[in-house]
Amino acid sequence: MMQDHAHATLTGLFALMLLALGQAGAVRAEDDVERRIDVLLARMTLGEKIGQMVQINAFEGRIPDELRRLVREGRIGSMLNEIEPETSQELQRVAVKESRLGIPLIMGRDVIHGYRTIFPIPLGQAAAWDPELVESCARVAAAEASAAGFHWTFAPMMDIARDPRWGRIAEGFGEDPYLASRLAAAMVRGFQGDDLSSPHSIAACAKHFAGYGAAEGGRDYNTAVIPEGLLRDVYLPPFKAAVESGVASVMTSFNEINGVPSSGNAFLLRQVLRDEWGFRGFVVSDWDAMTEMIEHGFAHDLKDVAVKSLRAGVDMEMQSPAYAEHLAELVQAGVISQDLIDQAVRNILRIKLRLGLFDGRALVLAKKPGPPTAESMALAKRAAIESVVLLKNERRLLPLPRPNASIAVIGPLADDPYEVLGTWNRDGQPEDTVTPLAAIRSLLGAQAKIRYVAGLPSTRSRDRSGFAQARAAAQSSDVILVFAGEESILSGEAHSRAYLNLPGAQDDLIEELSKTGKPIVLVVLAGRPLTIGRVAAQSQAVLYAWHPGTQTGSALADLIFGLESPSGKLPVTFPQAEGQIPVYYAHKNTGRPPEKLTLIGIDDIPPRSKQSAPGDASRYLDIGYLPLYPFGYGLSYGEFAYANLRLSSTRLALGDTLRVSVDVSNKGGMQADETVQVYVRDLVASLTRPVKELKGFRKVRLKPGETQSVAIDIPVASLGFHNAAMRYVVEPGAFRLWVGGDSQSGLAAEFEVVDK
Ligand code: BGC
Repeated sequence: MMQDHAHATLTGLFALMLLALGQAGAVRAEDDVERRIDVLLARMTLGEKIGQMVQINAFEGRIPDELRRLVREGRIGSMLNEIEPETSQELQRVAVKESRLGIPLIMGRDVIHGYRTIFPIPLGQAAAWDPELVESCARVAAAEASAAGFHWTFAPMMDIARDPRWGRIAEGFGEDPYLASRLAAAMVRGFQGDDLSSPHSIAACAKHFAGYGAAEGGRDYNTAVIPEGLLRDVYLPPFKAAVESGVASVMTSFNEINGVPSSGNAFLLRQVLRDEWGFRGFVVSDWDAMTEMIEHGFAHDLKDVAVKSLRAGVDMEMQSPAYAEHLAELVQAGVISQDLIDQAVRNILRIKLRLGLFDGRALVLAKKPGPPTAESMALAKRAAIESVVLLKNERRLLPLPRPNASIAVIGPLADDPYEVLGTWNRDGQPEDTVTPLAAIRSLLGAQAKIRYVAGLPSTRSRDRSGFAQARAAAQSSDVILVFAGEESILSGEAHSRAYLNLPGAQDDLIEELSKTGKPIVLVVLAGRPLTIGRVAAQSQAVLYAWHPGTQTGSALADLIFGLESPSGKLPVTFPQAEGQIPVYYAHKNTGRPPEKLTLIGIDDIPPRSKQSAPGDASRYLDIGYLPLYPFGYGLSYGEFAYANLRLSSTRLALGDTLRVSVDVSNKGGMQADETVQVYVRDLVASLTRPVKELKGFRKVRLKPGETQSVAIDIPVASLGFHNAAMRYVVEPGAFRLWVGGDSQSGLAAEFEVVDK
């Protein structure tokens, strides 16, 4: 025993020594990088320095002589979108071997949810509530992209989005700052790994800094008006988490916030990012976002753009020419200091050095990726399975039995290998995709009766000529599977929608099928929450699958036929109708919060009513106040019960950690995963607080009949907010807490934070 103890102590000491050595080593490596930058900066001409700050887009075909000359002269620091390995290799060779100082280019690409292997869109990945999964997917994407010659991805996007009209909601992690922060940090870790110079790592980019998801009306690029407290409490936390995870770069956003476009926003780029958070990577503008400050009415011309962007803290300009054309004359005229230029170049060189670009990586032969490996396919399938949310399952229609199956497979997305890959699929190939129809056929085998009719040629089509055949197929089958939704192009950048119903005549197709009286399983594949209330009511089961990627079909088939249980939880609130937007769970209470029982609907108001009826409250006369599906919601083939909520203490000091424990049982007949969620409300504060805020979660796997005690730690320090003086404070007082399987249900308890 004694010996064991001594041994353990020695092992602990050894581990501590290793840690200390590791830390010392890291500091030495950092010093080394800074020294190498000093040497380079001392040798660089002004033109070469400015060159590092210039990023250009790829071109197609033969390398123009002009480009070759610019690279040779050190006038370009980065390229994006060069997908031909030979071309990027040749340009890199010119940069390294023919330019005066041999500074390599950093090659960037939008690797958003996979490179060749396409994983679910980020909003779908968010529905898995699984940081490790997100990290693993990014790791595979990094290895594939790196092998193809890229060193840098413009991801993760971590814009909080509370408006599903905004097409880019697909690219982020949803509406909640806590969930988005956990996932943003995980994705950064996945792309960058432990060591940026590893051939399997690429630099990540936290985007879009900041407030892009708050575009008014959900219209892309639109103005964002965000009070500083809200900005700091809701929109900035994922970026802070990314910086804490060592993200190598940050991208400005297109929008203005409170009158200042992000690329000219020194408050964001210098005060918050550098001074408060200590960010050590570099800032790149979004595509043309700097020059768009002219359209915004914030800069006069390109020269003014260059001044305002550099002063604000943009280190590298994507695509537009303000830096290349104007920085030199601005320095010579004394408007811009050499020092500002040096700071920007230092930030960029630091990442190039850390990536190992100066140490041979730039010249490593790249090649176009081959088809996904079996391992990456398996991960893509796991990710797709975890991302699907079961929204409805009347009389336990799902899972469907496999023997003697007689099913109609209907819908424009049942056998489409491209449209299920989602927005920002740049390098994935539809030939890798397993469609739902193919997967169902292969799972059920030849004996099954599968009647496939698309019914509509595309999701936007209004051509009803296929309805009769679809209905006939449905009529002859025991159950109808409908694969409906949005094509990839209907979400993503510049693809906002004002109506959020299923596009084209899909609603009508489902209505037609419902007339057969056969049970309908509706599978929605889309880039955002859609207003599916009517079609969900006509269906007996609904699976929300987002755009699941390469393994769409295999994942869905396993879920539909019960090889796996759905476990996804909504990372965003689903509105009943567009008129309810913005609708999100962490709203404020108002002085007249609605309560179900007292409400009078539009049809029940007596005629010629003069007085306000009882039930005056903050809601809509026509659809009340509840969303269609709340944040955090998702059903399972398991049946979960929560009991025995315990708090480690009900009086906590500011530095304490509250341990929340609860017993979760699976009373169903199938093994399944449940995501246990903890929400907290600060009951009275110097500024009103949201009715609930997610503060912790844990995903657990439970066998049938199994009970597990689940513990989640909530640091009291995480219960604060920015007060009127913009100081982050945890105010002592009473808090309420809920633990459950979504944001609208759960066991409740209260505790107090004391100032001792
Ligand atoms: C998008 C960015 C993207 C960039 C480069 C812009 O239009 O807003 O998210 O990284 O293009 O492709």
